[in-house]
Amino acid sequence: MICVLLVAGHGTLLESEIKNEATGLYSHLVGIPKALLPGVGGKKILDFWWEVVNIRQLFSDVYLVTNADKYKYYERWATANDFPVENIINDGSTTSQTQLGAVADLELVIRSKRFNDDVMVVAGDMLCEDLNFDIAEVLKFFKFKKGELAIYYEMEEGEKTESRGIVEVCPLTHRITKFYEKPSSEVTESRLASVVFYCFQNKTLPTLGEYLKMHLLVEDRRLGKYMEWLINKTGITVFGMKLPTGFQLIGQVDLSEYKKWLACYSSKQHGIAAKSITCRSYARIGIMGNPSDGFYGKTIAMTISNFWADAMIFESKKVVLIPHPLNDPTEFGSLQDLHRISRKEGYLGGLRLLQATCKKFYQYCSEQGIALAKRNFTLKYDTNIPRQVGLAGSSAIVSATLKCLMKFYDLIDDDLPKPLRANFILNVETEELIITAGLQDRVVQVYEGLVYMDFNKELLEKQGYGSYVPMDISCAPHFWLAYMGDPSDSGKIHSNVRQRWLNGDSDVVAAMKTFAELTDLAKIAIESRNWSQLSELMNKNFELRRSIYTDACLGQGNLRMVELGRQFGSAVKLPGSGGAVIGLCLDPDNLVELKKAFQEAGFVICDVVPYGP
Ligand SMILES: *[C@@H]1O[C@H](CO)[C@@H](O)[C@H](O)[C@H]1NC(C)=O
Ligand SMILES: *[C@@H]1O[C@H](CO)[C@@H](O)[C@H](O)[C@H]1NC(C)=O
Ligand SMILES: *[C@@H]1O[C@H](CO)[C@@H](O)[C@H](O)[C@H]1NC(C)=O
Ligand SMILES: *[C@@H]1O[C@H](CO)[C@@H](O)[C@H](O)[C@H]1NC(C)=O
Repeated sequence: MICVLLVAGHGTLLESEIKNEATGLYSHLVGIPKALLPGVGGKKILDFWWEVVNIRQLFSDVYLVTNADKYKYYERWATANDFPVENIINDGSTTSQTQLGAVADLELVIRSKRFNDDVMVVAGDMLCEDLNFDIAEVLKFFKFKKGELAIYYEMEEGEKTESRGIVEVCPLTHRITKFYEKPSSEVTESRLASVVFYCFQNKTLPTLGEYLKMHLLVEDRRLGKYMEWLINKTGITVFGMKLPTGFQLIGQVDLSEYKKWLACYSSKQHGIAAKSITCRSYARIGIMGNPSDGFYGKTIAMTISNFWADAMIFESKKVVLIPHPLNDPTEFGSLQDLHRISRKEGYLGGLRLLQATCKKFYQYCSEQGIALAKRNFTLKYDTNIPRQVGLAGSSAIVSATLKCLMKFYDLIDDDLPKPLRANFILNVETEELIITAGLQDRVVQVYEGLVYMDFNKELLEKQGYGSYVPMDISCAPHFWLAYMGDPSDSGKIHSNVRQRWLNGDSDVVAAMKTFAELTDLAKIAIESRNWSQLSELMNKNFELRRSIYTDACLGQGNLRMVELGRQFGSAVKLPGSGGAVIGLCLDPDNLVELKKAFQEAGFVICDVVPYGP
């Protein structure tokens, strides 16, 4: 692969503003080409690109195309920076009137150096805001896709489409379907801007010459115009890869933009060391339907602010995952202590969840053509969600970790839309860690609040996710929640419901259908605040579950909690896979006695506090 850095443009506007600037603050910069203007710490714009591409084995050669006017500046820069001077190509132009245009500049290197390789071409006088991205990821995506590649970014609010090459990208194939060079805003809704940062396969390079033959005017010889032609007219496949960062100093800019970039860049530099990001995901209660729902059913669930998992991320030299002192113990008081803790807690802490989430995240971004910044991080977590009582503690850790990674690498919601994020979290658990689970918990933890979910089979198969409807959380009634203080005491017998369902067992299939019906009725009951109706549905929901999962599988502890709740006039059901119950108490007078009874029986009980986004 060859790399070509284009710096042959004549930065007329910026240069004349620097020259005419009244205070004289910028007089030392007069005549200096844009790519060699100093950034913070004296580092020049071109230095950054040279650092990015000057990595052994990625490129066989790096070329710089400049104009005759500024050639000397670049020659000086090259000797000072260990850049091969013989690789600087002088295009002979001295003013913007005589410039060749970037397409001709690129064609000039390719023709004069007679190389037969794939080419990456970059405008060496613009900058990404996050200068620290991994160029190897870009090349990997290019080789993988086996088509041409254009880098794009999401424009910031103030940026105008009229000054950029705007692309429309197919989210599935990542193919660029439309390219508009500097369109007016009504032409396309897309805010994705392509910059001069492309990879071309060697077999496509002859089209540069063809294009030049057809386009003699210099304003048609911009790379954006060529790309528009390549995509519109030749049918050659061009893929898009997103950099999750903005670009600055693109094309003709003025002094104020240069100053703005300096200011923004220096504030970023100062912010780096201290910046750490903490993200939280909440426990959930399943209010109606079959828990987890891997059965194409319907459910209603709600996140609660009683319990949560936090993940925290900050930049560091290496990627470090920190074990949680309680959940991933590596030090014990004694061998006896180790024995006791292992027996009670098992071996499955949260560290594996962090590791699996990071692994999947990297994989997702590589496959989706998102070039992550080259930054390492330290990641840790904390959680107060009681373990093994079915309140979705594991997926809360995964979902908090994912939030952190997205923020750390500047991904936006559209890079991993909510329904797909729920699938992502599920896959971390089912594919990486072989945990049996369904979508419900991940959906409600991603959407947050009170959510109605329909996992209709056709819908899931067609679009890859169900229909998720956020409900008004102020409708949620006052639930109580009780769970076992020591769930490891209740021996769990594995249920065969999934196997029976897969075998088409008519009782199980019918039960799943009824769960879905109960869910639809519960939605109406909640929306109309008909609590007596909701109570009835909750009890029905539990009895239905009991009938197919059997008392042996539900276990003594769960049955005891249900029984106790009912004694005090509450409707009761399990909010998850077992170990906890939720109840709806219509007579507040009963609540005090109910709580006492649960506590005396050795359970933990609390009032549910809904969590809405
Ligand atoms: C492109 O490069 C490959 C090897 O990298 C070479 O085999 C092929 O002949 C080249 N194609 C053209 C059109 O020059
Ligand atoms: C490319 O297609 C877009 C949208 O169809 C159109 O607006 C533009 O003028 C076309 N450009 C060229 C060079 O054909
Ligand atoms: C990240 O870590 C790797 C290896 O641990 C190291 O080579 C690389 O320089 C680090 N990157 C940054 C930006 O610190
Ligand atoms: C609650 O729902 C039940 C069953 O649909 C209905 O009979 C009852 O009238 C409703 N109550 C209120 C107060 O709407």
